[in-house]
Amino acid sequence: MTLQNMEAIVDPNLVHQWITAIGSDSSAVVPILQAIQRHYGYLPRKAMDLVVVHTGINASQLYGVATFYAQFRLKPVGRHMIKVCHGTACHVQGADRLNTSLRHALGISNPEHDTASNGSYTVENVACIGCCSLAPVMVIDGQAFPNVKGADAQRQLFKHARENNEILAGQDAENQ
Ligand code: FES
Repeated sequence: MTLQNMEAIVDPNLVHQWITAIGSDSSAVVPILQAIQRHYGYLPRKAMDLVVVHTGINASQLYGVATFYAQFRLKPVGRHMIKVCHGTACHVQGADRLNTSLRHALGISNPEHDTASNGSYTVENVACIGCCSLAPVMVIDGQAFPNVKGADAQRQLFKHARENNEILAGQDAENQ
């Protein structure tokens, strides 16, 4: 799988259901975007087009809100999500090194990209997740890993990949 074909297949009926349930004026923009992202993990272009066609919300309103709030993303996500906390405590404890080590194991070298080319994992930087005394912290698919340094983070990632039959594309993955 390549990044190009990671785009979700959008079901127009689902989008219509969300619009019917939530509303179609400008006050519905945020909840509609939240419904789309909850289902697809991001905001697929096709779903955004359907909202513009079937509501009174225009494209600039819709994309204005989608790009304003950090909670929304316009790029596809991998099958698994890794969140690396970059709050102050985690930053001081080496969140950047953690991030570099994970990206290396996943073979993500382009700074513009956050998802492995095989669609396995997305690495996302997030603000403080509320357990600063355990810094640095990362979360894989909702499970938090406290006090993880670079090598620990890779070990946890390799273990997670083995358990989920995922192949890691990075150099360090050869040692997993
Ligand atoms: S700064 Fe990372 S959990 Fe608070």
